[in-house]
Amino acid sequence: MNAIEITNLHKNFGEKHAVDGLDMTVPEGAIYGFIGENGSGKSTTEKCICGLIPPTSGQIKLFGKDHKDGEARGKIGVLIEAPGCFPNMSVWNNMKLQAANLGIKNENEEIRRVLHLVRMDGAASNKFKNCSLGMKQRIGIAFALLGTPKLLILDEPINGLDADGMRIMREILADLTKNHGCTVLISSHILGELEKIATHYGIIRGGRMLKEMTAEELNASCPTYVYIKAADMNKALAACNNAFARVEFDEDKDEIRIYDKLSAEDVASYLYSNFGIAVTELGTAKISLEEYYIDLMKEGK
Ligand SMILES: Nc1ncnc2c1ncn2[C@@H]1O[C@H](COP(=O)(O)OP(=O)(O)O)[C@@H](O)[C@H]1O
Ligand SMILES: [Mg+2]
Repeated sequence: MNAIEITNLHKNFGEKHAVDGLDMTVPEGAIYGFIGENGSGKSTTEKCICGLIPPTSGQIKLFGKDHKDGEARGKIGVLIEAPGCFPNMSVWNNMKLQAANLGIKNENEEIRRVLHLVRMDGAASNKFKNCSLGMKQRIGIAFALLGTPKLLILDEPINGLDADGMRIMREILADLTKNHGCTVLISSHILGELEKIATHYGIIRGGRMLKEMTAEELNASCPTYVYIKAADMNKALAACNNAFARVEFDEDKDEIRIYDKLSAEDVASYLYSNFGIAVTELGTAKISLEEYYIDLMKEGK
């Protein structure tokens, strides 16, 4: 079953078409990376999904039911803006308040459960204001996890985190989907990080879905290549263009990329023996999600 199925969603703010005919499918169990430039309509879509704002038109189904259905709604946990916490209150007491707002039963047990899920067991007595940014983001996720949702909607939850904070977040999300039957919709600008966890991607532009694909499809669309640098790059580039079928020069990295199915060693020895070119740097790499995304955005323009 699909956790989210959106058909032809529109959301207007006056003249502004924030979401403009969006289709989206998030399969159950996915970690769905929702990608798009600022202002492309990610947060608006997420707010429509969880019922924070009403769509102008279109259909949103959650686990096969209309999103306004009470049962469907009860399955969602949301972190869209930073959690509304009282800075001088402890993490535990902030959780207590939130649990009371949500009408959670067995709240002590439930709070212990969610704090454990986000690796905050030891920090319950800390004042919220003394928590690091990474801890605050995890408290936000703990809020969203109250009531055992089947679908988590996280808007930019890894912004501003350091490498360690990102790693912990990655582990938490993998644990939730693998071991707790959760589906996660996560929007982020940090594509390198998203690429490590997402099973599915949706790329949105101007309120429309530009491309949806699985991690396997992304992988297949991102070829591997051999990159080289040489003392005389012009000479090397001319030689490569002569010898190989698909060659590109990457200006950002100042390197030549060869997409033919060859090993780095083959390329180097060919250039040396046929053209006397000594390669100064070489290796193999793969097009990243970020490069794929940038290319896709260029194509669209
Ligand atoms: N409440 C609102 N009133 C008017 N315009 C809005 C409102 N919320 C969002 N927008 C506009 O809708 C567009 C999409 O915004 P948003 O969904 O926040 O994009 P994203 O999350 O992808 O950055 C933007 O142009 C934004 O300025
Ligand atoms: Mg946003």
